[in-house]
Amino acid sequence: MNALITGASSGIGFELSKVLCRDFGYRVLGVGRNTVALKKLSEELGGCFSYLAADLSRIEEVNSVADYVVREFDRLDLLVNNAGFGVYGGVLQHSDEDLISVTTVNFLSPLILTKRLVGKMGRGSTVVFVVTAGIHVLMRDLPIYGAAKIALHYSLEALREELKGVGINVLAVYPGLVRTEFHRRAGREVAGGADPADVAKKIAQAIRGGKKRLYVPRYLTVVRLLGPYLPAFR
Ligand SMILES: NC(=O)c1ccc[n+]([C@@H]2O[C@H](COP(=O)([O-])OP(=O)(O)OC[C@H]3O[C@@H](n4cnc5c(N)ncnc54)[C@H](OP(=O)(O)O)[C@@H]3O)[C@@H](O)[C@H]2O)c1
Repeated sequence: MNALITGASSGIGFELSKVLCRDFGYRVLGVGRNTVALKKLSEELGGCFSYLAADLSRIEEVNSVADYVVREFDRLDLLVNNAGFGVYGGVLQHSDEDLISVTTVNFLSPLILTKRLVGKMGRGSTVVFVVTAGIHVLMRDLPIYGAAKIALHYSLEALREELKGVGINVLAVYPGLVRTEFHRRAGREVAGGADPADVAKKIAQAIRGGKKRLYVPRYLTVVRLLGPYLPAFR
């Protein structure tokens, strides 16, 4: 079974690459910019993991990844759209470049990659989108990230209906706080959160179980009942 995971160099994608290779028998192609981390992971995992360097804020590089998979793979069984990043600060504090790259990496690239690759995926395969449970509240300090993830959520719900007929499952993952590099990279130190290895295990089990939605931790499922997003609690 072949899997493509974006954002395999760190955090959730890094741990998921390990679980899928070691425990679920996938051959994983990991994508990211940090080739040092990706190379290290390929040395650790051996033949089941290879990688491609790509900056997913650049549409031409997203298309290069798709071209590679179309050319090299007979079939893709699993596509995990996991790469993402945010920028802490108000809407007016985002530079034009931030607005474009946050929207591209979190929203446009996953859709373009999926659109290009579903033709390689058959009945029984899965497309995963890593969203955030934060879409259910107004994240005043991560507004563009939140907007991009809400757009992703909206699109994947529609896509799920479109792919039903061809037997491709769409799994949407909504993590709460996870202990990764995400917040530091976004410009803030945030303590606590779930272990990314546990989150990865839950994602792998949800893929195998054919689930449509996964909230981690599970109690966050309750916020979904309240609507796409709530006004801030403060
Ligand atoms: N951590 C949390 O609290 C949390 C909560 C909810 C949802 N999430 C979501 O979980 C997903 C994984 O994040 P994480 O927590 O594991 O954070 P992380 O440790 O910062 O990992 C992010 C991954 O995305 C990749 N990435 C970022 N920008 C990229 C770009 N321009 N081109 C290619 N790859 C890029 C990074 O790779 P390179 O640096 O190598 O490019 C890295 O592998 C994201 O979609 C995030 O929004 C995280």
